[in-house]
Amino acid sequence: MAVGNRVCALVDGGAYAELVNAPAAQVIRVPEDLELRDAAAVPEAACTAWSNLVGVAGLTAGMTVLIHGGSGGVGSMAVQIAHALNAFVISTAGGPERCEQVRALGADVVVDHRSESFADAVLEVTDGRGVDVVLDVVGAAYLADNVRALATNGHLVVIGMQKGRRAELDLGVLLTKRASITGTTLRSRPAAEKAAIVDGVRRHVLPLIADGRIRPVVDTVYRFSEARQAHERLAAGGVFGKILLTP
Ligand SMILES: NC(=O)c1ccc[n+]([C@@H]2O[C@H](COP(=O)([O-])OP(=O)(O)OC[C@H]3O[C@@H](n4cnc5c(N)ncnc54)[C@H](OP(=O)(O)O)[C@@H]3O)[C@@H](O)[C@H]2O)c1
Repeated sequence: MAVGNRVCALVDGGAYAELVNAPAAQVIRVPEDLELRDAAAVPEAACTAWSNLVGVAGLTAGMTVLIHGGSGGVGSMAVQIAHALNAFVISTAGGPERCEQVRALGADVVVDHRSESFADAVLEVTDGRGVDVVLDVVGAAYLADNVRALATNGHLVVIGMQKGRRAELDLGVLLTKRASITGTTLRSRPAAEKAAIVDGVRRHVLPLIADGRIRPVVDTVYRFSEARQAHERLAAGGVFGKILLTP
């Protein structure tokens, strides 16, 4: 890394700024063909998706994964990473148009969570076997069905609680499947773990971005002065991928 390089970074907070401090180990060089602005959509989404799919759940080629919210900032990156790893990718999104957009990112099957039971769909598509990995951004409302959708020895990784933090679970199902559940947050991880995650993203995800197999999905770019509108838009739903703020 040298002065003048184009970089993006996994920051510890405070990124709504023209200048930001980031530990060197959390800085990533931006591939030549990627616009610096679009690179802002990469670090958090890629680090979250990579660390949970690969680091926590051990996703590899030939495995089957369910990624909730393939239409979101994290999900749109996770679908592309899982597809690039040659996993069989099932995803969820709200509405036919968003499902089609997630399919275009490389998902093999997309379930419209507004009109279908994702667990029923997963079991149908996998001939009753279930998926090896679930990456969940929904939380409590999906806990029981996420476990129902898991295969034997499957791994549910919960990274979001958009639909609640408390739920009831039949532990018998977990025991019978020898399944496991992990919850993680990126932000609370110690610096050494963040450095290791960024290193993994640098070595494994960046080359896929550089050669165009993965692209950060940017819905809209707002000015800092429009931050309020950007947040209102995000809160209203319907954003596909990331919203970015620029000076
Ligand atoms: N633990 C961590 O380290 C970590 C890191 C980053 C983000 N997160 C969390 O992960 C979540 C997603 O972040 P994001 O940046 O991707 O947010 P986002 O861009 O706002 O995306 C939210 C996604 O959730 C989906 N969703 C909402 N309700 C759903 C439902 N009932 N069933 C299936 N999907 C549903 C949406 O799909 P539709 O709009 O298509 O319905 C959308 O794709 C947030 O809760 C965030 O706090 C956690």
